[in-house]
Amino acid sequence: MYHIPVLLKECIDGLNIKPDGVYVDVTFGGGGHSRLITEHLTTGKLFSFDQDEDAVANAESITYPGFQLIKSNFRHLRKFLKLYGAAKVDGILGDLGISSHQIDAPARGFSTRFPAQLDMRMDQTGDVSARDIVNSYSEEQLHKILGMYGEVKNARTLAAAITRNRFSKSIETTNDLISILQQYAPKGKEYKYYAQVFQALRIEVNQELTALEEMLSQAADVLRPGGRLVILSYHSLEDRLVKNFIRTGKFSGEAEKDLYGNTNVPFHIVTKKPIEPDADEIARNPRARSAKLRIAERI
Ligand SMILES: C[S@@+](CC[C@H](N)C(=O)[O-])C[C@H]1O[C@@H](n2cnc3c(N)ncnc32)[C@H](O)[C@@H]1O
Repeated sequence: MYHIPVLLKECIDGLNIKPDGVYVDVTFGGGGHSRLITEHLTTGKLFSFDQDEDAVANAESITYPGFQLIKSNFRHLRKFLKLYGAAKVDGILGDLGISSHQIDAPARGFSTRFPAQLDMRMDQTGDVSARDIVNSYSEEQLHKILGMYGEVKNARTLAAAITRNRFSKSIETTNDLISILQQYAPKGKEYKYYAQVFQALRIEVNQELTALEEMLSQAADVLRPGGRLVILSYHSLEDRLVKNFIRTGKFSGEAEKDLYGNTNVPFHIVTKKPIEPDADEIARNPRARSAKLRIAERI
């Protein structure tokens, strides 16, 4: 199984699909959400983005004539929609992060469970891998990303240890890195610690938060009034950006006011509290457990 779609029905309901509308799935993956979107369309269109070669291969299984796969980072949303003559759309779905396939394919280097080259690029043509980061970032840069993106408590100590270790021999594989992490992980919580460090590297390799900010800003531009923004996130850094953006139109701080003191927010919030998977879904698919779904409507 490439990937089990999370909160599938809730996402599709959230998009409020019109059979002749234009929709975008910015994270195609195994195509679970995309497939169901096409089943709600008659003459409408679906544009699906993914930057991963492996995901693109799944597009062959979707035969709906109004479907178009775009192999690109979703940070280029507006440019590609314009290219395909769809400057305005009725709904955008984003199911952030990595697919089960990416984490389960040992060679991709995302998993703490398999020996592999430290890669972690979602886009196999990307210039920077996790190996480059652990071997070339300064101690201060490593400290910053481990603390910010992994919420690693002893980020400063670990950054110093990584730079010390790579001095004698470069850090090439997941096992090389884990052998360093072992010495700094809290006892009994080793796997959580490894996962935090791997998360930090993954976010940095793929510039995930910057890409998300760019995509959301463009989403506000390309959505028609009444169009829906439906975003599933899996950790608090992403969820915070999504929440702030739909509340204020910005990623931090309060909404801007015009001369008369009226706020000018682009969205009406549909889900006051995020939707989360229920116990049944988590039992069927434990990887859904941290999902938070937020839905907003373009004003
Ligand atoms: C959680 S999976 C999506 C699963 C999909 N909804 C399904 O049901 O199969 C996330 C996918 O988004 C892709 N992705 C993540 N960030 C991306 C970005 N910035 N641009 C393009 N694709 C991205 C990943 O390569 C991965 O295939």
